[in-house]
Amino acid sequence: MRESLSKRKNEHIRALRDDPDSDRRVAHFDRIRLVHRALPELDLEAVDTSDTFLGKSLSFPFLISSMTGGRGDDLARINRNLAEAAERTGVAMGVGSQRVMLSEPEAAASFDLRAIAPSVPLLANLGAAQLNRGLGVDDCRRCVEILDADALIFHCNPLQEIIQPGGDTDFSRLVEKIGAVAENLNVPVIVKGVGAGVDRADAEALLGVGVAILDVAGAGGTSWSRIEQRRRDPDDVHGLGYQFQDWGLPTPVALRRLEPFGDRLTRIASGGIRGGVDMAKAIILGARLCGMARPLLDPALESADSVIRVIERIRVEYRTAQYLLGCAETASLRGNTSLIVSMPTEWIYEP
Ligand SMILES: Cc1cc2nc3c(=O)[nH]c(=O)nc-3n(C[C@H](O)[C@H](O)[C@H](O)COP(=O)(O)O)c2cc1C
Repeated sequence: MRESLSKRKNEHIRALRDDPDSDRRVAHFDRIRLVHRALPELDLEAVDTSDTFLGKSLSFPFLISSMTGGRGDDLARINRNLAEAAERTGVAMGVGSQRVMLSEPEAAASFDLRAIAPSVPLLANLGAAQLNRGLGVDDCRRCVEILDADALIFHCNPLQEIIQPGGDTDFSRLVEKIGAVAENLNVPVIVKGVGAGVDRADAEALLGVGVAILDVAGAGGTSWSRIEQRRRDPDDVHGLGYQFQDWGLPTPVALRRLEPFGDRLTRIASGGIRGGVDMAKAIILGARLCGMARPLLDPALESADSVIRVIERIRVEYRTAQYLLGCAETASLRGNTSLIVSMPTEWIYEP
């Protein structure tokens, strides 16, 4: 029999908390310099960070990225604290993989969050690879319904699955299957990476089957390759998971590479976003929303108030950046690359 998915989720959380280096903290965004206006020609009071996503209002373009859910008090409490914080701060929230509720019915309650977060966008979550292991449209509908979700995220984690003992490594013909779900669901499908990015060929293929929202979830933050290596054998310094712990497209590079798709593709930035200045840079590179996971995990184990403190800090940072850039609204930041003074030229290699 396969290991319980709730047990595995708890192990992941433990592995991640025990190893500070599983957050790679590469700070790719620090390599981007923005302009500074000595005369922003704005009253700070007039700076408006509000935004919308999937037709719902947000206090600023922030997403609590997918983390958890499952059987047991800890997993349910994390989700309740995150949902309460999302509602009270007016930001979007994703839940962790809901596959667990399909095999462990008691896990479903941890995803029943709409009453706690009635007004903000909530995003369901499943692993794309499961579409090759019997997951069907009805399962996807159940996951959307329990959360009363505004969209369903399919996470694509081939690197993690290779390192994870017994991982699901059949990623063949998934684009077609994701497209079939998208066609039969009454909410949009979002496809995301898991710490290694999403590139142009993926975007092109997904647009071809009607998926127009991508979360790049790039490299620079949480490394699932490293976490799986530590679960498998932390002492094997040549372990595949260590060799690939920094593999993939850094988040700002992935955003840049997706720029040519323009308005055809809604881009979410996540992976290593650690503050409001990183957020401002991601929005300038065209992101619709900025997601963060790891820095919210410890606060979520404590209380909704602890999560709110982190989100409020990031909102103040974001608003300060907006003010110093002379942008009264988030819309005047988005895609406005004239606000960039410099960034590494080697980030874009066009032969
Ligand atoms: C504890 C934890 C659990 C996660 N579980 C999931 C998951 O179930 N599904 C998913 O799509 N992403 C999951 N992720 C990945 C995050 O949503 C995010 O893409 C990634 O961690 C990069 O963001 P970060 O650098 O801010 O952590 C998880 C991340 C963390 C920290």
